[in-house]
Order: sequence, then C-alpha cells, then structure tokens
Amino acid sequence: MTAPYRVFITRELPGREFAKLRDDPAFELDVWPGDFPPSRSDLLQHVAGVDGLVCLITDSIDSPVLDAAGARLKVVSQMAVGVDNVDVAACAARGIPVGNTPGVLTETTADMAWALILASARRVVEAAEYVKDGQWQTWTPTQMAGIDVYGSTLGIIGFGAIGQAIARRAQGFGMRVLCWNRSPRPTESAAVGAQQCEFDHVLSQADFVCVSIALTDDTRDLIDARAFELMKPGAILVNTARGPIVDEDALVEALQGGQIGGAGLDVTAVEPLSMESPLLSMDNVVVLPHIGSASMATRGKMADMAVANLRAGLAGESLPNSVGG
Ligand code: DGY
Repeated sequence: MTAPYRVFITRELPGREFAKLRDDPAFELDVWPGDFPPSRSDLLQHVAGVDGLVCLITDSIDSPVLDAAGARLKVVSQMAVGVDNVDVAACAARGIPVGNTPGVLTETTADMAWALILASARRVVEAAEYVKDGQWQTWTPTQMAGIDVYGSTLGIIGFGAIGQAIARRAQGFGMRVLCWNRSPRPTESAAVGAQQCEFDHVLSQADFVCVSIALTDDTRDLIDARAFELMKPGAILVNTARGPIVDEDALVEALQGGQIGGAGLDVTAVEPLSMESPLLSMDNVVVLPHIGSASMATRGKMADMAVANLRAGLAGESLPNSVGG
C-alpha cells in the first residue's frame, strides 16, 4: 500500500470536499486549528516534508517556506482568487503549480462592492450607529442626507470578471459606467454597457470609483495622491480588491482635505487595520474586514475548488484552476 499524501492545511475549511478529504485514508492531514494563521515558525515547521499545501491569503508562501517544505512538495493550493501572498515565480522555478479559486466568488464580491457603494453614498452605517446611539430625536429635511447613486457615474478600475459583474449591476441604477483595464476589453465592456476610457478620464468623471484589479508590482499604489487629485470633490472610493493598490496615506490626506467625499473599503494596506488608523474616526469611511467573498455558499465553493486543485496536483494532473495556466 502506498503511503498517504501528507498535506498541511493552514486552517479548517468549509465545504463538502474538505470533509471528504478528512475521511480519505489516502491523505494524512495536518490542519492548523483556530482562526489565526500559523506563525512564521509554525508554518516553516509544519510544511516540512509535505506533499501538498493548502493556504489562505493570510499566509506568506515564499522561497523559505518552499525550501522548508522540501522536494516532495507537489502543489500549493490557495483558497482565494488573489495570490499576492504566494511567490508564484518561486513556485514555478521549482515546478510547483499554484491553484486558486476564480469564478465562484465573482458575483458575491460584486455584491459587496455594491453594498459599499450604497452604504457610503447613503450613509447607512453612520445612520444605523446614530439610531443605536440614541441620537434619533426627530426627522429633519437634511438629516443623514447623502448622495444619489441612481443616475450617477461609476468608474471601474480593473475590468476582469468582478469589475464586469459590478458594471452589470449598475444598469439597474441607470448609471453611466466608465472602465479602465490594463489590456483593453472592448467586447466585455460593450456587453455590459460600459465605456472603455483612459485611467485619468475614469478618475476625473466618476462619482464612484471602484477598484477591482489584482495586486501586482504594477498596481501597488495605483491609486495615489495624483489619482485623488484627479477625482471629483465628492467622489467615493470603493476597494474590494487589495489594500496596497491604494496609497492609504494619500487616501487619508484626500479624505481629511475634503478632496474626495468618502470611502468604502473591504480591504486595507495592512490587515487587520490598526485601531489607530485615522480612517476609523471618519464618519464618511466604511471599513469591512475583507469579507467580499464571504457568503457561506461561496466560501464553501472556494474550499471545494481548493481541495480539487490539491487532489489534482498530488495526482500529477493539471490543476482545474491554476495561476498562469
Ligand atoms: C480572494 O479570493 O482573493 C479574496 O480576497 C478572498 O476571498
């Protein structure tokens, strides 16, 4: 009988496939317990000699981790679409495929971008806190008045699957939709009634700027002080992609100086966001704890995909979803 595959999984996963994996004698699982990621030293220790690694966005999978894993490592399977925490080039140099989970989270994440658009425009979180704090004494003509979403202009930075799903929803709000993508997407933009434009044009015209682009060396700090200067005074920035795409110091300055009207952030440059961050004391900022894909159904599907990628990698087959192929 062949020895079971040794697999380190950096957290308990939801979904049916993980439960099946647990009961499968062909796998010897080491599942990191609790909600917090393994420390660096725990990660280095637990990957030693594994055949497979299943990781999350909170785990930094770099050359030292791959070296610690050693020659048996056949696959790195990430339960997320974004893989900026994984050194994909270092994996490729060792012939290790990297799996991810695109597609299944597209609509759920687009819903969250919209939750942030609406919450920021109509002051939903601020107003709910106002009620809970006992400040609701009467009705006044301008109490908690925000800005209209209907009929406004939506700018989407990054027009992949999620950007397109955000754009589709805008049709119901009678919005003009402008989009920018590094490589032009004429067919996709036409299909959802969006107009492809230059980066600067999107920023200068949009009432809502939604960031929906992968974090790479090229997109780090893409939304910087210059970008905020281009934006309309009342514009709202929404980010459901990755925090470091926005220069957070520049964002704070733009908000403090009234250069933009507000922000809805599902992601921050450092996660979790420090309680000292000035963003947390601003009424016109909504910060969420990176929950764009967090519906039970979608997280279950993501985990199932991660397990499918793991199984394929261990069997020496091409992964159902791999990064860069
Ligand atoms: C991803 O998949 O990259 C999200 O950020 C987490 O769902």
